[in-house]
Amino acid sequence: MGQERIVILTGAGLSAESGISTFRDRDGIWAKYDYRDVATPEGFARNPVRVHEFYNMRRRAHGGVRANAAHHALARLEREHEGEVWIVTQNVDALHEEAGSRNLIHMHGEIFQALCAACGDRRRWTGDLSLETECAACGKAGGMRPDVVWFGEMPYHMERIRTLLEDADLFLSIGTSGNVYPAAGFVAEARSCGAHTVELNLESSEGRSLFAEAIYGPATQVVPAYVDRLLRGDIPHTP
Ligand code: APR
Repeated sequence: MGQERIVILTGAGLSAESGISTFRDRDGIWAKYDYRDVATPEGFARNPVRVHEFYNMRRRAHGGVRANAAHHALARLEREHEGEVWIVTQNVDALHEEAGSRNLIHMHGEIFQALCAACGDRRRWTGDLSLETECAACGKAGGMRPDVVWFGEMPYHMERIRTLLEDADLFLSIGTSGNVYPAAGFVAEARSCGAHTVELNLESSEGRSLFAEAIYGPATQVVPAYVDRLLRGDIPHTP
């Protein structure tokens, strides 16, 4: 492959084999919790204690997991491909960072970041959060929340993402069910700007018909194999 720009959207399926639950699989997070209670501003206003408990539990669970072969394959692609490689992740975990990816955009925020609703301060946060937690910047308590994007809120870095999609030669979508916008619409944007589009997933996603190509299987198998083929240049893809 030459200087092609590769843009990669990742979702919960990429981290599934690291032991992090996905959202919409049978045993997924939304089978156990109502997203309206724990992942919306209204839910937080109604019962902040419940939301803090939900994210404290997830933050602790994220603490003990490791990047898997799929995360490492994507970091290798960024290191070895001549052109630019960017990852736009819906995931709030830190596994892409652990694998060494640097060109990385967390469009739904990060579980290990805290945000003060009073002053807007954002900083790395690995412990529990509660109503009593005081903001390290303004000192106020009661306004600290996980720095993750809830339903009804605007995802982060959308301008930057749109620019990346416009210039992409190859768009990969990995481990996402294609249920949540705007991420689920990225394939159409990339395709309309001439990119070749490939879905790599355990099973067919909602957006399957929008992709030029689809490869199914567990991410730790199909992603390293696809990256090997890309780096060997044996993927003749037509925009
Ligand atoms: N390998 C590859 N794909 C997998 C694997 C695996 N081992 N296990 C599951 N998958 C696939 C599932 O088939 C599904 O299509 O990953 C996808 C996970 O879909 P979701 O659970 O809906 O997660 P995601 O698409 O990332 O959700 C998007 O919704 O709830 C919000 O903010 C949350 O970022 C999340 C967004």
